[in-house]
Amino acid sequence: MSSSGDANRGAVHTAGAGQPFGALESPLRARSVCESTAAQPLSALPDLAAIRRCFPGLVGDDVLLDNAGGAQVPLPVIDAIGGYLRRRYVQTGAGYARSREAGSVVSAAHAWIERLLGGEGAGLAILGASTTQLCHLLARSMGRRLSRGDEIVLAECGHEANIGPWLELERDGIVIRWWRADGDSFGCPLPALDALLSSRTRLVCLPQVSNLLGGVVDVAEVTRRAHAAGAQVVVDGVAFAPHRPCDLSAWGCDWYLFSTYKVYGPHMGVLFGSHHRLAELHPPNHFFIPREAGAYAFELGGACHEGCAGLLGLGAYLTFLAGGAPASALEELPDRAVVRSAFERMAALEMPIQRQLIEGLRSIEGISIIGPDTFGPERVSTVSFVHDRVPAREIAAEAHRRGIGIRHGHAYAYRLVRALGLDPADGVVRISAVHYTASEEIDRALVAVGAAVGAPLRRDVRA
Ligand SMILES: Cc1ncc(COP(=O)(O)O)c(C=O)c1O
Repeated sequence: MSSSGDANRGAVHTAGAGQPFGALESPLRARSVCESTAAQPLSALPDLAAIRRCFPGLVGDDVLLDNAGGAQVPLPVIDAIGGYLRRRYVQTGAGYARSREAGSVVSAAHAWIERLLGGEGAGLAILGASTTQLCHLLARSMGRRLSRGDEIVLAECGHEANIGPWLELERDGIVIRWWRADGDSFGCPLPALDALLSSRTRLVCLPQVSNLLGGVVDVAEVTRRAHAAGAQVVVDGVAFAPHRPCDLSAWGCDWYLFSTYKVYGPHMGVLFGSHHRLAELHPPNHFFIPREAGAYAFELGGACHEGCAGLLGLGAYLTFLAGGAPASALEELPDRAVVRSAFERMAALEMPIQRQLIEGLRSIEGISIIGPDTFGPERVSTVSFVHDRVPAREIAAEAHRRGIGIRHGHAYAYRLVRALGLDPADGVVRISAVHYTASEEIDRALVAVGAAVGAPLRRDVRA
């Protein structure tokens, strides 16, 4: 959708996330769709069956364990997008009623994402097509401020989205310092960071969770060390955000990116920047769009408007997940306490699944987990592995024959796979679960892996 004529969107970009979005009633309807007819009390936490009923994509015999690639979307998100397209699909920035309504959806979505991240009041959520696109935008904008000889620390364990854009700055004389992946721990060890930091370090770029390894990095600690050296921190939170609550005000990082299509939302990306850091950059949108337009000054062509409606629907889903207020209260987007309980609920649902997956893989002879082979809060349920004899593509193919959606390859963590001595063409097998994954689905995946490598099936795994 073109955003021409949108130059005054800054003027309507004022609705807070807590502000009612009135006739955007579809999340309310979706709430009732999510519930069973034999509904549990509204104050109770929904069980797995009720949760899965929210996701039309989970209906069917196949098993979706490629959630780190992209998650399914719940009905409130689907309905909010549909509702927007049916009733509000006009250009923002004009004075007529529908245009103002459309503008307030876009504004509310920005404010809501800032709240979701725990950065409300501290900075802006810039919405774009993807994390990759936004990281390129950030690197280009930041590059204008850097000087020859300035240094950037890049974590080798990262996804290429937060590596490639920074490497392009080498052409301008920026020096890259590699924070190497370590073959024992697999990730980029924290103690190794200190030796890379100097008075020339301007940026440290890292993943909060590698989309291949699954271990959670202590972003607050990395930020503390980088800030002590005078460097900014760019965190790729894509593989973390679907699993745990984000808390930017506690972590203190300067920049945070994640992809909403992995967090049960529409296919979009988010770049959060603190007000202070954004003020240092030249906004890249058209010259006549003032900095006061906020995020729009950084959103080339504007954000996907129907996607913004979908993001608001995500708020309704999180409310439901947190044990939800009665439907009428969903006219307001969830506060931080609700966001936290929704993600706590997700983590609680994931923990046994994670354990089942790791223990199951450990029990199959010849398999090595690439990443932490422990279960618990130190990792998310994105688990990669190789077999000492059977290529990853054959294991994945066996699973695919059985209707199980898993993935093999380098998952765009190409440099990490190469650093670990693996062949990027074959890479690893990755099984990624989220809170809606059922134990039976993990069983089916383990049985498929066992069959692919010719290992006897464990008795406690159902076929
Ligand atoms: C950890 C991580 N970072 C970045 C990306 C890139 O995200 P996008 O597809 O939104 O560009 C991905 C996508 O898989 C990812 O897993």
